[in-house]
Amino acid sequence: MYSSEQTQRLEKQTMALLAAARKHPLEAAKLEVLRDVLRFHEYRYAIMNEPLISDFEYDTLYKELEKIEGEHPGLITPDSPTQRVARGLTKEFPTVQHLVPMLSLENSYNEDDLLDWDRKARELTGLEELEYCVEPKFDGASISLIYENDYLLRGVTRGDGVAGDEITANIRQIRSVPLSAAFSRYGLSQIEIRGEVLMNKDNFKKYNEQLAEQNIAPLANPRNAAAGSLRIKDPKEVSRRNLEAFLYHVSYFTTIEGWQMADGHLISPEGQAAGNRKGAGSKSDAEGRPAEAPVHQALKTHSGCLKMLWDLGFRSPQKEKTVVKGIQAVVAYCHEFEKQRDDLPYEIDGMVIKVNSIALQDQMGMTTHHPRWAIAFKFKARQATSTLREVKFQVGRTGSITPVAKIDPVPLSGVTVSSISLFNEEVVREKDVRIGDRVLVERAGDVIPYIVKPLTELRTGAETAIVFPTHCPVCHTRLEKPEGEAVWRCININCEAQVVERIIHFASKDAMDIRSFGDAIVRKLFKLEYLKSIPGIYTLPFDKIREMEGFGEKSVSNLQSAIETSKQQPLHRLIFGLGIRYVGETTAKVLAASVSDLLDLADRSPEDLLNLEDVGPKVATSVFEFFRNPANLEILHQLKSLGLTLKSTKSTGTKGGNLNGQTFLFTGTLSRLKRSDAEETVEKNGGKLLSGVSSKLNYLVVGEDAGSKLEKAKKITSIQILTEDEFIKLLEKA
Ligand code: IVH
Repeated sequence: MYSSEQTQRLEKQTMALLAAARKHPLEAAKLEVLRDVLRFHEYRYAIMNEPLISDFEYDTLYKELEKIEGEHPGLITPDSPTQRVARGLTKEFPTVQHLVPMLSLENSYNEDDLLDWDRKARELTGLEELEYCVEPKFDGASISLIYENDYLLRGVTRGDGVAGDEITANIRQIRSVPLSAAFSRYGLSQIEIRGEVLMNKDNFKKYNEQLAEQNIAPLANPRNAAAGSLRIKDPKEVSRRNLEAFLYHVSYFTTIEGWQMADGHLISPEGQAAGNRKGAGSKSDAEGRPAEAPVHQALKTHSGCLKMLWDLGFRSPQKEKTVVKGIQAVVAYCHEFEKQRDDLPYEIDGMVIKVNSIALQDQMGMTTHHPRWAIAFKFKARQATSTLREVKFQVGRTGSITPVAKIDPVPLSGVTVSSISLFNEEVVREKDVRIGDRVLVERAGDVIPYIVKPLTELRTGAETAIVFPTHCPVCHTRLEKPEGEAVWRCININCEAQVVERIIHFASKDAMDIRSFGDAIVRKLFKLEYLKSIPGIYTLPFDKIREMEGFGEKSVSNLQSAIETSKQQPLHRLIFGLGIRYVGETTAKVLAASVSDLLDLADRSPEDLLNLEDVGPKVATSVFEFFRNPANLEILHQLKSLGLTLKSTKSTGTKGGNLNGQTFLFTGTLSRLKRSDAEETVEKNGGKLLSGVSSKLNYLVVGEDAGSKLEKAKKITSIQILTEDEFIKLLEKA
């Protein structure tokens, strides 16, 4: 989409704009270039996944654009990056007809199915061998988009295939969907394209963690998350979900007057300067470049369509697809791709095989349900059936009661599953699962397994309802369900189950990261009464532990030093470790940055707390309550006297440390340092971390088995490649 010359030009323009914006507000004359620059960075971020500037720098420029447009509303264009943001809530999603019905695909599950299908396809076309395009089958929610005169006109859900819901405002929140694209350069005035909206695995996990923090039942899988997100009436919330889209099919188009289809080619009228159409606001149009060739072949093949979409700034499976001759090569590619399934950042549930020639596609036609020129090759399902034997009720660190289904152990994509969370009473009721039911279990990628549904047809009548306890299964306090919450709670904060869960959380990887002090050990020590509270971690009776079975001298001394090291963890980890309700890692960082000593938080009113970034009333109240509770303050005083750092590293600070402004990226396995420690040190010394190799990178620190990042960095001469030892030396100098 962007040539290296364009990339360099836009990068220079970015730097110039940022430098200018630091001094004074940008002038209206910069409007066009500002938009181009922002679109370019949107592309680098959403399509290439290789951002060249930080979120902060992007936001700086975005705010400048907002300001100029605010002062000159007449200059706003519908495809300005500011125009993704919708104002207000969507009232309803009107039903609209698709230009062409959205058919589904025939499924195949093994090699024989594919060979059969290929045979039929060859019979139908009378050809000995067919050329196929093979691409991933994205597991999300399907959509269709219409662009007219180069602008995104509307986005629609699949619905019943004939008509769907118009969700344009939500589609505009997806940063990988361009608001305008220069289809006019291809002679197209209107085009309907299809694709899939996805929530990637990382965002799905993060989203579910946020839900869990609020005790809301997590979403079952990324597919449901994407489909559900598209139907939200608040586009701002849709934007927060960080959806992505792959576009993979051109279903309909009309040509600009004068352009004609002939023998599958699109022919432009002699001398027409395609793309010179007024009002079309995308980059290439603005340059008014003439059509490069009188004949456009893009629409002759499916792979040509994918390339056209890619070149116009869409995320099409341009890099993931392959074009091969004959079915054997198709089978090989499907198997090869399946091996990568777990390494992909998004979910796929198979591959789609399409006859590459559009003329042949037209010749083959379709049945009432699916095209004859395409077939899905479904990967092995990550589903299994089992029997639900009993339901246990677990007490979480905040007292929440979670029903956990115990099923007959069943293998599912590489692990044996025997325990599955049912989240809360509502979920149990909604799914109507009963003890004794056969249940369908699914596990997608590294996502936690869940019960899809009970197989009600198999019920014998002997199944029994799941009955929720009225009292805590551990301390027997009467359970409560606060107004507006979905979860029953044990409100006894001294409930042993809660105490032990809080200790486990405190020591966990994202909190104080005490290595070799996992779940099982904590429970064991707690049971033996060697450990009764969080501060107790720092006064463990090691002489007794040494005597315990399974503890050698080495493991005890490892544990001792891990506990000792944890005393130096930065304050935000300690705050997160305290397990204050609604305080996740991000909020913990905000809180840590707002004080010089943790105990300062005890003096903050809810109003003070509300002034902090991203702190809403729920968090503010929860933090306030936590620090008002004498038992919690006592824990903090104890931790302090045991030698833990309650001071904020931010304010004691290395402000503008000696790595100031330098950018770093780590790749491969480090042998002397822990990756997260090395990264933290960089930040503490004023350096910045980047997520990918680009010309913005100053140092790539290379550990063992470094791969593609190293190769890429070698090509950019400005990047200094450091070994781990060289990096440590650099730090010593810093
Ligand atoms: S082509 C007329 N390509 O799978 C053919 N579909 O089970 C249009 N899907 O409804 C579909 N990835 O939502 C096609 N690369 C891909 C796909 C894909 C996912 C979905 C699509 C379709 C469903 C059929």
